[in-house]
Amino acid sequence: MNLSEINTPALVLNVDALERNLGRMADAVRSTGVALRPHTKTHKSPWVAARQVELGAAGVCTAKVGEAEVMVRSGIRNVLITTEVIPAKIDRLLNLAAMGSVSVVIDSVDAATELGRRAAARGMEIQALVDVNVGQERAGANPGADAVAVARAIVDAKGLRFAGIQGYEGHCQHVFEYAEQRRRAFECYERLAQTRQQIADADIPVPCVTTAGTGTYRFAIEHGVATEVQPGSYVVMDDMYRRVEQLAFENALFIVASIVSTNRPQWVIIDVGWKAVSTDAGAPGVRDLAGTRYEPAGDEHGRIYAVPHSAARVGEQVWLVPSHCDTTINLYDHYELIDDDGKYVGRLPIAARGAST
Ligand SMILES: Cc1ncc(COP(=O)(O)O)c(C=O)c1O
Repeated sequence: MNLSEINTPALVLNVDALERNLGRMADAVRSTGVALRPHTKTHKSPWVAARQVELGAAGVCTAKVGEAEVMVRSGIRNVLITTEVIPAKIDRLLNLAAMGSVSVVIDSVDAATELGRRAAARGMEIQALVDVNVGQERAGANPGADAVAVARAIVDAKGLRFAGIQGYEGHCQHVFEYAEQRRRAFECYERLAQTRQQIADADIPVPCVTTAGTGTYRFAIEHGVATEVQPGSYVVMDDMYRRVEQLAFENALFIVASIVSTNRPQWVIIDVGWKAVSTDAGAPGVRDLAGTRYEPAGDEHGRIYAVPHSAARVGEQVWLVPSHCDTTINLYDHYELIDDDGKYVGRLPIAARGAST
């Protein structure tokens, strides 16, 4: 297929840029003694996950049981589910754990007791990590005594094995300035290091300390507390991450839109609105059209401002760069694949799209 014939809106992935990003992260982590466990919540593709494992990843992360189901059923092993699993989903989790190695995070004594009881009833032992709130103020046990209590509950539960601690510093990922991002990330790693020490002081060995994303993996490695990093967005990047200083990854993801109307002098209308691009992190960038900007104009429409109207024709393509890759990818069923020369090379299903339960 010729790219000009592509059905728009289309989510386009440059596979050459993807491969370079995968290789750069694998190279950056290899030889550090820290394991790479990429987060698949970004790309939602078992094919990309398998490639990450081929390049040396120790396993992968998923955010949800539903994503883990897609990954494990596709043959991906050693999956860490990085958000808490509520009691209503424990049966699905145990079914999955029977198929391949799946570990979970836990942030309360009650949750540890319940999962442990139900795993033991099925004769299973699930690897569990204490999720520690290192400052994001999302889920997670408080660092210190609360986290130690959850670790103790995991150790005491017959159906669980204590595997370590997780402390994701999500609020540090988009601090754009390098020194400030490093300073804030280090504060989080100090909380993790103290908690690890307190758990160890309670005679509980802590085999794994897992943390970090695309913005901070480098600081987690430098600090030394992490045994494992969990970056996700580096595979394709986005307009938000582009602004973070000194990140060696390139944009590999685009939305191809078509101009559908040119009747107003101030803007042209394209076929990409809220249903085709996420705007939680601001408007997407407009590629190749300097001085223009995108604004949503409803579910199905968007405006591109300041396009010279003499140049704009209905049916012409406009390429956008998503501001937030995860939430945009989740809007599409597949990637249209291109290479560095802009040649169309095929289609890849986004198998875990919408697997948010
Ligand atoms: C627990 C956890 N780890 C890792 C990541 C990956 O972060 P990023 O996509 O910014 O690399 C996320 C993303 O939200 C996350 O929630």
